[in-house]
Amino acid sequence: MRFSFILLVCVSVALSAYQPEPLALSKQRGKKVYELNCQTCHGEDGKGEPSIFPPLAQADYLMQNRTRAIRQVLYGARGTMIVNGHTYTGEMPAQGGLSDTEVADVLNYVRNAWGNQDNSPISPQDVRAQRR
Ligand code: HEC
Repeated sequence: MRFSFILLVCVSVALSAYQPEPLALSKQRGKKVYELNCQTCHGEDGKGEPSIFPPLAQADYLMQNRTRAIRQVLYGARGTMIVNGHTYTGEMPAQGGLSDTEVADVLNYVRNAWGNQDNSPISPQDVRAQRR
């Protein structure tokens, strides 16, 4: 009885001391930002829409260059873009209404979802540095 009480106290202390890493939290918040701002075009599974919306899931374009990825969200893009060997000629509206933290969070989410893996998380300061 006494032992199980001590065990309970230890478990509660351990649980309350547990803090998920900052990247884990950023990804959690980023999923929400994605659902609200990106999912209609890029899809719940990040696979986009053939010849209209490029994929984010295992997308070479997204993963090749983190600065370009930040600028893609802030300023959108129009014109020709080649993603995983397919050409896209659509237009993505700028998402400049998102805060620095929201842009960082959504990129940390998409760059670590659907098989993507990014070993250098993006910070709100990285986003700020790309604002005009
Ligand atoms: C209205 C539709 C639409 C929305 C909303 C949208 N995108 Fe896009 N996105 C596009 C299109 C279209 C392109 C390709 C643009 C081109 O051809 O120049 C693109 C390209 C991209 C690319 C570069 C190509 C790739 O697949 O790697 C990234 C990264 C990206 N979008 C991320 C996002 C993120 C993150 C959000 C939400 C914050 C978002 N997009 C919201 C339509 C959209």
